[in-house]
Amino acid sequence: MATIPTYTLNDGSTLPAIGFGTYPLKGKDGIAAIAGAIEAGYRLLDTAVNYENETEVGEAIRRAGVDRSELRVASKLPGRHHGYADAIASVEGSLERLGLDYLDLHLIHWPNPSVGRYPDAWRALVALREQGLVRSIGVSNFTEEHLRRILDDSGVTPVVNQIELHPYFPQVRMRAVNEELAIRTESWSPLGKRQAPFTEAPIVAAAEKYGVTPGQVILRWQIELGSIPIPKSATPERQRQNLDVFGFSLTEAEVDAITGLGRADGRLFGGDPDTHEEQ
Ligand SMILES: NC(=O)c1ccc[n+]([C@@H]2O[C@H](COP(=O)([O-])OP(=O)(O)OC[C@H]3O[C@@H](n4cnc5c(N)ncnc54)[C@H](OP(=O)(O)O)[C@@H]3O)[C@@H](O)[C@H]2O)c1
Repeated sequence: MATIPTYTLNDGSTLPAIGFGTYPLKGKDGIAAIAGAIEAGYRLLDTAVNYENETEVGEAIRRAGVDRSELRVASKLPGRHHGYADAIASVEGSLERLGLDYLDLHLIHWPNPSVGRYPDAWRALVALREQGLVRSIGVSNFTEEHLRRILDDSGVTPVVNQIELHPYFPQVRMRAVNEELAIRTESWSPLGKRQAPFTEAPIVAAAEKYGVTPGQVILRWQIELGSIPIPKSATPERQRQNLDVFGFSLTEAEVDAITGLGRADGRLFGGDPDTHEEQ
């Protein structure tokens, strides 16, 4: 399998071009699946306080036995912890559950704009980064308005904005905004989860041409866009397959045809960042 490239982020740190999503992996089976993913070669792990599996992620890291410095462990601050002091305590709780002394990346999970405390949460993450408890800080589900608000407020740019992004919801506008602000896009539900477009013509055609699976075509499309996909799979074979997307590439026309699958109702269960509130 080809090696996984890395991106250098706007704070000088690095992330691999693909990661592993851990929701909803929990319990004994969850630990086994996450440890298996690390053994298969994933080096970026995506968890969140709200996934209630940080303990399992920590256990899987110890079980897999890969050197801590090789891993990028990312978690997320829930909406109910947006107050400055709450956010500090929340990250300390994440570290305790993970059994780690630092996080590589911590994200504000949702902006929850009607509550409007995400700028306080961001100031807390900036302070935690200065203390070294969190190496890099970012956001998730932020619109341009939310991004500009924290930038104006703090002068600190998030390293990533993790957004819903898959062929039915290709996020052309938000990808351009992130790029303009030097923020790396990360894709959640990168395969499309329940709406996975595995049988769409441009995906099937590319899969046949390159001798890969439709899932690999979608993940390669993510790589061509420059976004970091974090596919979740509990299945060892799919975990390996999803990682094996660096031995072929798509043409610009193939990328455009897949992006062209985007549709107005393409958004999944997450909802609109302006109206959806995540607790
Ligand atoms: N920031 C946010 O608000 C947010 C929201 C949602 C998710 N996330 C993150 O994003 C991660 C991934 O998103 P997701 O789990 O919603 O969606 P996803 O990774 O696009 O899809 C996961 C589903 O696809 C299946 N699958 C995986 N690889 C496959 C393959 N090669 N062929 C066919 N099916 C395949 C998995 O089944 P098996 O497990 O049975 O293989 C699972 O049912 C989550 O785990 C979480 O870390 C973040």
